Amino acid sequence: MSGPILIFDSGVGGLSVARALRQHYPSAALCYACDNAWLPYGLRDDATLAKRIVMVCQAAVQACQASVLVVACNTASTLALEGLRQTLSIPVIGTVPAIKPAALMSTSRHIGLLATTATVNRPYTQGLIDSFASDCVVTKIAADALVTEAEAWLAGTPLNAPRIQQALAPLWQATLESPALDTVVLGCTHFPLLQPLLVTLAPAPITWVDSGDAIARRVGQVATTLVSSAHDGRCFTTAPAQALTDGFARYGFHAPQPLALPDAC
Ligand code: DGL
Repeated sequence: MSGPILIFDSGVGGLSVARALRQHYPSAALCYACDNAWLPYGLRDDATLAKRIVMVCQAAVQACQASVLVVACNTASTLALEGLRQTLSIPVIGTVPAIKPAALMSTSRHIGLLATTATVNRPYTQGLIDSFASDCVVTKIAADALVTEAEAWLAGTPLNAPRIQQALAPLWQATLESPALDTVVLGCTHFPLLQPLLVTLAPAPITWVDSGDAIARRVGQVATTLVSSAHDGRCFTTAPAQALTDGFARYGFHAPQPLALPDAC
């Protein structure tokens, strides 16, 4: 297994997972691919999205000769992991909302799930809540606007403060309830990129939980060698993304190249 680890997301959210992987495995080769032509995934129809994810991931795995695929997207993972595992011959590691660790950390037994509309509504997510947080109040909040804001943040364009506050208002409201919300699952990989801002906006102390470290640990179990490769740092997008070049560089990736997709995509 000498090919790079390929990180896939709809957009720049997978960079929060890339950051965790670089911290755990500084000399491992990483490639990045995002389907920014179809962003945001969280508002797409499930059936067409599932097919699209498989096609884009197949093309990206081929382009960088990856040895492991990390689906650094909760919206894609809660829908398409099975299809990806059936189609690809390399290990596929998914990202699902960190409900279990959040439930273990919460003292008040009231946790929040901040995710896309699709992830909040998926049976997969409800299954995690039923299995690991059945003794907690779980406030589920669809915050698709924060996906766009995280994209803007990486591109260095101004954030829309009123839009962010509007998306977060139900979360802040839950900190006033009884029991008060004390822990929030960042159930979309875009959101840890905005965590420093979320911390400053929160009206009360909140423990923020994401899946980055857990994914990194899982990669260490699956990948037998984590070595450098000629493909290290390559970055593929499905739509032009020149505005993101500096942002990608901050996470160790080269300027984005177009990903060649089959005509059916
Ligand atoms: N980053 C993705 C996730 O973790 C979703 C972003 C989108 O809606 O495209 O769910």
